Amino acid sequence: MIAALNPNGEPDMTTLLAPPRHIAIIMDGNGRWAKARGLPRAEGHRQGTENLRRIIRACVEFDVKVLTIYAFSTENWRRPPLEVRLLMTILETVIDRELKELNDNGVQIRHLGRLDQIAPALQKKIQYACDFTQHNSRLILNVAFNYGGRDEIVQAIRRIVADGVTEDKIDEDLLNRYLYTGDLPDPDLVIRTSGELRLSNFLIWQAAYAEYYFTPTYWPDFDKEELRKAIIEYNRRKRRFGMTDEQIDTA
Ligand code: FPP
Repeated sequence: MIAALNPNGEPDMTTLLAPPRHIAIIMDGNGRWAKARGLPRAEGHRQGTENLRRIIRACVEFDVKVLTIYAFSTENWRRPPLEVRLLMTILETVIDRELKELNDNGVQIRHLGRLDQIAPALQKKIQYACDFTQHNSRLILNVAFNYGGRDEIVQAIRRIVADGVTEDKIDEDLLNRYLYTGDLPDPDLVIRTSGELRLSNFLIWQAAYAEYYFTPTYWPDFDKEELRKAIIEYNRRKRRFGMTDEQIDTA
């Protein structure tokens, strides 16, 4: 469960908040975090990776059921080759180092995105991590890696056509089932760190009715207390899903 904060900024256990079921995060600002400290970008990514551990733990503690992280976009291939290599190595190292602890804590790892352009050894590792944790249910951790929202929709349409689905069967539910997240609830809360105000091709279908939370904090500094603030703000929002206030109040 997650407690609100009292006027002194301490957790107030008498006021518990409903956690979003599904949180999606654009973990942005590792490079600027490093630059602001006169450090190499690689150090920013290292600290960003450390922070990811903290946020996964916090999500388990706050009883969030699905966490989706944007780790590498289909557009990130345009970065300098050395940095692309570094991001690939980070995922490899995270799997090697963290898989056991994630599994012990009931985390189920899933991959969102295309495996085909990734080096075969890393593909295998990703597949192994997903298979190894597939029966866990405390937290589903979707790792969007070589992921793009537009590409996801294109791939879904290709598979719908390949399956010979006829025009009259095509509706939103069907398309939804063909996405990587087909069996999961849509994100309730999308967080982007580092002050950028855009979605950058992340879950563009699934986040149609999400609440958005943008913060200037760079990802390595977005800790458990920052996450609590985002969830408190989420609890203040009134979600109408196209309906009126009156309809929501009587529902
Ligand atoms: C944004 O910082 C972050 C990324 C491109 C992804 C890197 C994410 C991590 C290192 C966390 C864990 C990663 C994995 C693979 C599990 P940026 O480089 O865009 O920062 P900038 O916009 O300030 O340059």
